[in-house]
Amino acid sequence: MLASKKIINQANKVLTSGNLLIFPTETVYGLGADATNNVAVKKIYKLKKRPLGNPIISHFENIEKVREHAELNNSAEKIAEIFWPGPLTLILKKRSRSNISPLVSNNNELIACRVPQNPIAQQILKKFSKPIAAPSANIFTKLSTTSIEHIHNKLRKNILIIDGGICSYGLESTVINLTQDNPIILRYGSITVEQFAQYLPKLKFKSIYKKKFISPGQQKKHYSPNIPIRINVKKVFNDEVLLNFGINNLASNIYELNLSKSSNLNEAARKFFYYLNQLDHKKFKKIAVAPIPNKGLGKTINDRLKRARAKK
Ligand code: TXA
Ligand code: MG
Repeated sequence: MLASKKIINQANKVLTSGNLLIFPTETVYGLGADATNNVAVKKIYKLKKRPLGNPIISHFENIEKVREHAELNNSAEKIAEIFWPGPLTLILKKRSRSNISPLVSNNNELIACRVPQNPIAQQILKKFSKPIAAPSANIFTKLSTTSIEHIHNKLRKNILIIDGGICSYGLESTVINLTQDNPIILRYGSITVEQFAQYLPKLKFKSIYKKKFISPGQQKKHYSPNIPIRINVKKVFNDEVLLNFGINNLASNIYELNLSKSSNLNEAARKFFYYLNQLDHKKFKKIAVAPIPNKGLGKTINDRLKRARAKK
């Protein structure tokens, strides 16, 4: 799906004047601002109620644009060539000449970079030609959105929203740090560990939740619905709606949605936030979620679910 020239011009005007824009990517919707404009970037933190210590991803039109702002070592070059454009975020060393706002990375010399493949995101980036800082378009710690119907009312006021339909992957980008000798996955995402295995055999997930000091943006509670959620359930209680997966004996007396009757994890990933947003409704009391196999995209889904039910 492409946006009209008129909409892209409008988007460009919004970004150039230091305002915010909600736009589609292949993972989730983003809340974007000119990454080089301090005032505009500050607006993102304020609107999302996000602490300044949680760094934001910068989005670029292509790898050449990334190279202007960040240093890519050999392994970053290799991985970027394979997976960009696409749902991969690389943590890279910022060049001293880069004019990306220090607020984007909490004054850190490492910045998160991503080249999205969604055609509308590409149209916007091409027209604007500067990097766009964009976290997911949701309130801090709440569910991400993969369709504009689920965007929170507080994010709608005076903000241009560009509709790109339902996001094709449905889970956020995979975040990898390749700046050290041992490559580290900082966030499971739409590209699986298995997909990286042949290129990065030593890739490890860093379990940041066990540490006393939690890295920026990695607090455990995240992706959370407003009503309580139970995961890996063997039985559904009377007051629970059900997010099911595959064919099994689970059933809700109230309401249920199935992520994939054929147990297809790609389908489940695409529908995950869409369905959770539907179930996170004031007419329901509690959500129960069926077990999801812990492999491939199931790892990412289970990561989101564990954090969704976390208390803080
Ligand atoms: O798919 C996505 O990545 C979406 C779309 C809109 O691109 N964006 C997104 O952004 O999920 P956000 O802000 O919700 O998540 C950003 C993640 C966080 O886990 C954050 O900690 C990490 O990227 N991150 C950003 N900058 C970082 C940095 N300099 N160092 C370490 N981690 C960083
Ligand atoms: Mg987010």
